Amino acid sequence: MVSAMLEDAVSLKHTFDRNGYAFPVDAMPAAEAAAFRARIEALEAGPVGHGPEAQKLYRFKPHLIFAWAAELVRHPGVLDAVSRVLGPDIMVWAAGLFIKEPRDPTAIKWHQDGYHMGLSDPGRAVRAWIALTETTVANGTMRFIPGSHTNGFVAHVEDDSVRKLALRGEHIAAPEGAASAVPVCLAPGQMSLHHLKTVHGSPGNATDARRMTLAVSYIAPEVRPASGRDTAMLVRGEDRYGHWIADGPAPVQEYDQGCARAHRRSMKIRLAAYHGAAMPDP
Ligand code: NI
Repeated sequence: MVSAMLEDAVSLKHTFDRNGYAFPVDAMPAAEAAAFRARIEALEAGPVGHGPEAQKLYRFKPHLIFAWAAELVRHPGVLDAVSRVLGPDIMVWAAGLFIKEPRDPTAIKWHQDGYHMGLSDPGRAVRAWIALTETTVANGTMRFIPGSHTNGFVAHVEDDSVRKLALRGEHIAAPEGAASAVPVCLAPGQMSLHHLKTVHGSPGNATDARRMTLAVSYIAPEVRPASGRDTAMLVRGEDRYGHWIADGPAPVQEYDQGCARAHRRSMKIRLAAYHGAAMPDP
């Protein structure tokens, strides 16, 4: 049920290659997205909460600790679209749940996700952004600069003063083409795909409702971690390369304490690889 604009594999790939992104992709029905949201909010209201410890779990590979996330990163509607960019073999490298609360003014400055990710070939990775609520201009959705993925990586400057959803506060001060940036407006259950060199950012949430999205970085198995040692999880097809330490096991319970140790191990390896500073960014 991919939307009309992206009806066949050729057009999704064509759009992605030309613009550095493709959306909207209908990944699942709105009711299914609402059910995922309800499961997350039940955990927030119960054993997991909202605090800093909860944020850590939401932002670092939630698919290794929460059943809802394990299901979402493997959702056939998501993987079918991702396979049109990456081919049949797909691994999850990073994922993070991003919640912009009502009236949260935090803006994410312009950046390229791949700038600090340390992947050998950012062109063989893709970032999926799955909407669990609607995403609109008013609630601070991302804006993509069309074609910005073709100019390579652009210098990012440090900014320690910003409240950080984004890693290390690195951003691009005045990117080319910012005036023509395109807002990623999605209904619940839709998603966008973007290239790791696509320049994007987002304003704050000016509405009275939460905005919830799950961002997932998918890679083809031939991609290597620049650090030489990092973890990822095969979710479709085959890994014929063995460049990654296997994440896992996948959680089977909503908040699976049996997976806590493996989740922590993956986090330790990531932190060691990126000098204690890195977490997946929005
Ligand atoms: Ni980003």
